[in-house]
Amino acid sequence: MPLGIGLIGCGAIGAILAKAVDEGRAGDACLVVVFDENLKKAVDLAQKLKSKPKVARNFNELIECEDVKLVVEAASQEAVKAYAIEVLRAGKDLMVMSVGALVDSKLTSEINRIAKENGRKIYVPSGAIAGLDGVKASAIDKIEKVVLTTRKPLKALSDNLYFKEKFGGKVEELTVIYEGPALEACRLFPANVNVAATLSLVGVGAEKTVVRVVADPALERNVHEIEVKGEFGDLVVRVENVPSRENPKTSYLAALSAIATLRKITEPIVIGT
Ligand SMILES: NC(=O)c1ccc[n+]([C@@H]2O[C@H](COP(=O)([O-])OP(=O)(O)OC[C@H]3O[C@@H](n4cnc5c(N)ncnc54)[C@H](O)[C@@H]3O)[C@@H](O)[C@H]2O)c1
Repeated sequence: MPLGIGLIGCGAIGAILAKAVDEGRAGDACLVVVFDENLKKAVDLAQKLKSKPKVARNFNELIECEDVKLVVEAASQEAVKAYAIEVLRAGKDLMVMSVGALVDSKLTSEINRIAKENGRKIYVPSGAIAGLDGVKASAIDKIEKVVLTTRKPLKALSDNLYFKEKFGGKVEELTVIYEGPALEACRLFPANVNVAATLSLVGVGAEKTVVRVVADPALERNVHEIEVKGEFGDLVVRVENVPSRENPKTSYLAALSAIATLRKITEPIVIGT
């Protein structure tokens, strides 16, 4: 029986994921219900899909659908805070895209506790970065350092308050605009929070993970580079991300990784950690 999915958030990631499920490209899954605080977005998305999922007018209408076994959050950190625990209490698994919410260790341990009590799982796709399998394995033994260097084109920083206040919103040449703990980076660069948060969760935590943000006027794409040094040796991974068509702040790879996670959940052979 296909895995019944309830989708929260019908923006860039939600729409790409819904289309993939509809076309049978996301493993053995079917979209049962969609919900967005902007009702029109949910209605428009549902209409475009062959499977014509139900449109929930509020969260309760989504959670009451018995056929939903997995709720995919592709909405916002506020949505994770508002709904994650309810989803798990209702006996459903959860996929979280707004990983930045999980930097709040109090919320994460509460989510963990409720999931355990209810025998549920929380899936966090690797999102816009690669190499998490290696970071996760390496973190089992001693790690000396985990560094994330994110290079950004100026347009990707155009609405960043810290960049505006400290650098007047522009630099003439490649400039390191922040270097410090992931925890602080998540606060100063909320649009980049998911990558730093996911890396922190699998590695050494948000206080010990070092994030370097570089403004690069010559760049068109968001480039993430991960460096890990530990007992196992050295790991370096670099991803040059193309933005998604629907939301330039969201890398296309993030949506693809949500689809890949659905495949991993529903297919019998699981490759990679
Ligand atoms: N894990 C990663 O690497 C990664 C990468 C990119 C984006 N993201 C995160 O994934 C989430 C979705 O990204 P997107 O590009 O699809 O965003 P988007 O802005 O294109 O779409 C989000 C949709 O969710 C809806 N929404 C927001 N809050 C809601 C709430 N509380 N309840 C119901 N609906 C709500 C909005 O109306 C919007 O339609 C964002 O939080 C983004 O930061 C994660």
